[in-house]
Amino acid sequence: MKAAPQRLNREQAREFLAEIESTLESHRGRDAREAAVRALNSRFSTYSWVGIYLVQGQDLLLDAWSGPIATEHVRIPIGKGVCGFAAKAGRTEIVSDVSKDPRYLQCFPSTKAEIVVPILYENKIVGEIDIDSEELGAFSSLDREFLEAVAAKVSRHCVE
Ligand code: SME
Repeated sequence: MKAAPQRLNREQAREFLAEIESTLESHRGRDAREAAVRALNSRFSTYSWVGIYLVQGQDLLLDAWSGPIATEHVRIPIGKGVCGFAAKAGRTEIVSDVSKDPRYLQCFPSTKAEIVVPILYENKIVGEIDIDSEELGAFSSLDREFLEAVAAKVSRHCVE
């Protein structure tokens, strides 16, 4: 069961990063990616849907996800949508209100905010973490910092 909605604080971020790290130690490759999205989705109620896309050629392919329903956006061209934009620009994108962002590709009508964090391996983008939230302005600079640290830990599992 999920905890009550709350914003991430620094102590939780530190604790949870350590938890993710130990979870990842006992998994490899796709299992590790699955474990990471499950952990992120179940731990924070503000993270309503969590997915990892992997770069394949000029596209992002949905690899592992955790959330109430599947998305139809299983292949996103790099450059398209918030996901494709983050992959092209190579930086984290935070969208506080998806209804105001013309790049946004809708997956779930309940989504209000989104964060997309590139996963880098040896300075190359190999994938990204995409998280939807049903709360406006759900993602702070601390979520960004935390998720960038998670992306760094998941990274080696994205090339296995
Ligand atoms: N909203 C994303 C598409 C992926 S779904 O959120 C799972 C985008 O604009 O790229």
